[in-house]
Amino acid sequence: MILRAANVVLKDGVKKCDIRIADGRIAEISPAGKGKGSAESVLECQNLTVFPGLIDMHVHLREPGFEKKETIETGAMSAVKGGFTQVCCMPNTKPVIDNKIVVSYIKAREKEVNLCKIHPIGAITEGQKGENLAAIGGMKAAGAVAISEDGKTVVNTKLMANAMLYAADFGLKCLCHCEDASLVDGGVVHEGYYSTLTGLKGSVRAAEDIVIARELCLAESLGVPVHICHVSTYSGVQLIREAKARGVQVTAETCPHYFTLTDEIIKDFDTNTKVNPPIREERDRLAIIEGLKDGTLDCIVTDHAPHHADDKNVEYNFAAFGISGLETSFALSYTQLVKGGALTLEALAQKMSAAPAQILNLEGGEIKVGAPADLAIVDLNEEWVIDPNEFASKGKNTPFAGRKVYGKVKYTLVNGEIKYQN
Ligand code: DOR
Ligand code: ZN
Ligand code: ZN
Repeated sequence: MILRAANVVLKDGVKKCDIRIADGRIAEISPAGKGKGSAESVLECQNLTVFPGLIDMHVHLREPGFEKKETIETGAMSAVKGGFTQVCCMPNTKPVIDNKIVVSYIKAREKEVNLCKIHPIGAITEGQKGENLAAIGGMKAAGAVAISEDGKTVVNTKLMANAMLYAADFGLKCLCHCEDASLVDGGVVHEGYYSTLTGLKGSVRAAEDIVIARELCLAESLGVPVHICHVSTYSGVQLIREAKARGVQVTAETCPHYFTLTDEIIKDFDTNTKVNPPIREERDRLAIIEGLKDGTLDCIVTDHAPHHADDKNVEYNFAAFGISGLETSFALSYTQLVKGGALTLEALAQKMSAAPAQILNLEGGEIKVGAPADLAIVDLNEEWVIDPNEFASKGKNTPFAGRKVYGKVKYTLVNGEIKYQN
């Protein structure tokens, strides 16, 4: 196959190129019209932009156990519709991904579904109970690419230190959900003006920052790497920036909702705005954009957390935390960050593909000869309105319904095969 005359997002800039794909890999990248090889099929890409297949290192696919919210199949359909060719799924399923059998089950489902690449993330402790370490080596052998207790923090610091040491020995990253539950104390939104206005119980930045600081201290004193999940506070960004400056091996992620929204949106009590950590203030939003710009925040993830309507159509206090994000992440990030002037297209590709590949040691993340032909082909000029009813995901829970965005995914290729076409 040849992708003809595409705007290709390469590491060093966007160039007008032809891309020839053979045997599932990129065989040739040549200036448009100069390609030599023949092809069985040609995809005209004159007005389209080709990105390295997006990689989301933080999603919840809900299978096994919560298939009412999402399955590996609907999650993978949602991923390719969003331009993602690889996703890493968190272990808070039922049963928890805490042993090689569950890891193998997900790898088997990945093959059956045959849409995007799916990498399981193993739990840090058995059953995510925070008591005994899970069998990390076995999970790695079965295909786990990281460990995480996502959904909660490992409360026992000594246990967390051991987890970080073991993970480092196995060459796996520890992905940390940072939340001091005693400080959150039932809070459902960010504590500030809007929590006071609505009467909803707030949660302070310190609840997140204290655990970020703990994980940084552990990484620094043990001399091992650590990855901080879904950073939402200005102060968390600053803690990570300072740690990086003194050589701590830390990487970090944030999500589109944290650089797009502020807590003002809770004033209508829409439970689709309920997410953990909570959406914070303008000061935080701006600091997160600054953190993405200066490299403090390495990557953008969705924290795709699909829920059934039954989990959201209840009073705010009782609603589930989470946003269905796979199908809006690219357009929100492009609109907010590239059109907003914070990042170049190459930098966006870095945050949404190359960096996660690097952090988790996955193949892919860059368009170059020899790499798997994992590609997201996008019309950057197409303006569209987010409508959750059109989501392939079972989770229609988004605070972005009705929002105008730019950038529509037209094709997603995985190993050279078209897995999604709009
Ligand atoms: O909003 C969230 N939803 N935050 C989490 O940490 C967990 C996730 C979920 O699993 O629903
Ligand atoms: Zn989390
Ligand atoms: Zn999560």
